[in-house]
Amino acid sequence: MGGKTVLITGGTSGVGLALARMLLEQGHLVTIVGRPGANGERAQKELAQAVPAGKLEFLPADLGLRQEVERVAREFRSRHDRLDILVHNAGVIMPRRVLTQEGQETTLAVNFLAPFLLTHLLEDRLRASAPARIVVTASAAHRTGPIDFNDLSMERHYRGFAMYSRSKLMDILFTYALARRLEGSGVTVNCFHPGVVRSGLYREGGAMRLFFAIGRFFMISPEKGADTAIYLCTDPAVSGVSGKYFARRAPAESSAQSHDVPLQEHLWTTAETLTGLRPAQP
Ligand SMILES: NC(=O)c1ccc[n+]([C@@H]2O[C@H](COP(=O)([O-])OP(=O)(O)OC[C@H]3O[C@@H](n4cnc5c(N)ncnc54)[C@H](OP(=O)(O)O)[C@@H]3O)[C@@H](O)[C@H]2O)c1
Repeated sequence: MGGKTVLITGGTSGVGLALARMLLEQGHLVTIVGRPGANGERAQKELAQAVPAGKLEFLPADLGLRQEVERVAREFRSRHDRLDILVHNAGVIMPRRVLTQEGQETTLAVNFLAPFLLTHLLEDRLRASAPARIVVTASAAHRTGPIDFNDLSMERHYRGFAMYSRSKLMDILFTYALARRLEGSGVTVNCFHPGVVRSGLYREGGAMRLFFAIGRFFMISPEKGADTAIYLCTDPAVSGVSGKYFARRAPAESSAQSHDVPLQEHLWTTAETLTGLRPAQP
């Protein structure tokens, strides 16, 4: 399956970086997205050293910002006329509620709204490149309480891990709703839990950093975390499989809530409004 054109968000660290390396080793043309700065520079160097003949591109962008997501789509489209594999992997846990320059809560913006919008902006390229695949990095942490649509980003009582869990539930609801829309197109979409991975995810501080300091010895490597991702991206065994949640290379059961179709559809229209794809109701 060599020679595919791949876009990975969050390809500069952890699971995404390990996945980028595996895809480069298989001979694919890989574009990684991460924020501008040292992480991206380091990732490029590391990948160039690991796979000297690898076809790698770096597209620096802050995916917390809608205008940056739009720029990523524009720049990717201007450089590539096809897209075979799109991996939505960028993710954050924020111990405190931080708004982006556009006024959106950061976890919601990066973990859910960015993949939602980027998919829309690149969907025609994926369809034209079919068979194509979309892979979403979700999490077992998606098992959480109901989504309060009156307080989507926890303005009233913010809890960092609860917001993260909510965003990961949204990723799965989105995956299932998108799979319905892509049926028959030759484009599949699946999501997965990578395991508890020794990565940069817990670097923002708070209780998460403590969890990382104590738990890191029991966590799996980013390479192991990326194993289900490389399977979903490239393995012929899942070429026709869509709308599933995976763990350890096998379909797994996501929460009952994630299968709630009216909830999926309500989230979809809400996301369309939040990303500017649909005019806000007066
Ligand atoms: N680690 C775990 O135990 C675990 C468990 C379940 C699910 N996951 C999921 O796995 C995915 C990858 O996380 P990881 O564990 O590999 O953590 P990580 O090492 O912190 O990687 C996160 C990636 O997201 C990118 N990113 C974060 N904010 C961004 C922004 N505003 N704009 C653009 N890129 C941004 C980071 O790039 P820069 O910092 O270079 O911008 C980095 O490449 C996430 O979706 C996470 O929710 C992780």
